Amino acid sequence: MKQDLIELTAKTYSEEDTLELAQKLGQLFVGDEVVLITGELGAGKTVFVKGLAAGLGVPDEGTVCSPSFTLMNVYQGRVPLYHIDLYRLEDPEEITDLGLEDYFGAGVIAIEWAERLPFEIKGTRIIRVSIQVGDGDNRTIKISGLESLPEIAENKKG
Ligand SMILES: Nc1ncnc2c1ncn2[C@@H]1O[C@H](COP(=O)(O)OP(=O)(O)OP(=O)(O)O)[C@@H](O)[C@H]1O
Ligand SMILES: [Mg+2]
Repeated sequence: MKQDLIELTAKTYSEEDTLELAQKLGQLFVGDEVVLITGELGAGKTVFVKGLAAGLGVPDEGTVCSPSFTLMNVYQGRVPLYHIDLYRLEDPEEITDLGLEDYFGAGVIAIEWAERLPFEIKGTRIIRVSIQVGDGDNRTIKISGLESLPEIAENKKG
C-alpha cells in the first residue's frame, strides 16, 4: 500500500453513523496505525474508538470506554487496540512513563485529546481524525492519512 496523504470529510447524523464510519476505517487497518483524535467534549471521540474496535474485531466493542484511572486501555481484536485518553493528563511525564514508543507498530494506537500530547508524533502510519460538532447530532468528521481511505468516502455516498 502506498502511503500518500489523503483527506476526506464525512458528515454523520447519529452515533450509529459515526460507529459505522469508524468501523470501516478499522477494517482497513493492518495493525500499526496511530489514530490521533481531536474534538470537543462529547464530540464522539470515544464513539469513534468503539467503531475502530468493531472494525478490528474486538469482541463486544460496546465495552470500549475511556480509560479513567489509567491513561490506556488495551483491547484484543485481530490486532491489539491501545486506547489512550489524554483529557486528564496533568504531567507530561505520565505519557513518558507510558512508554508509548513501545506500542508503535505493535497494534493500533487510538489517542483521544491528541492535541494534549506533549510531543509531536510523526510518521506515515498516522491518521488524524477531527470531529466537529454541528447542530443536534450532526458531526463533521475529517480524516486524513492513508491512501486507502477514499474507499470509505465512496461507501458513504451510497
Ligand atoms: N453523530 C454523532 N456521532 C457520535 N456521537 C454522537 C453523534 N450524535 C450524537 N452523539 C452522542 O454524543 C456523545 C459522544 O460521546 P463520546 O463519549 O464519544 O464523546 P467524546 O468526544 O469521547 O467526549 P470526551 O471528550 O468526554 O471524551 C454520545 O452520547 C453520542 O451518543
Ligand atoms: Mg471520550
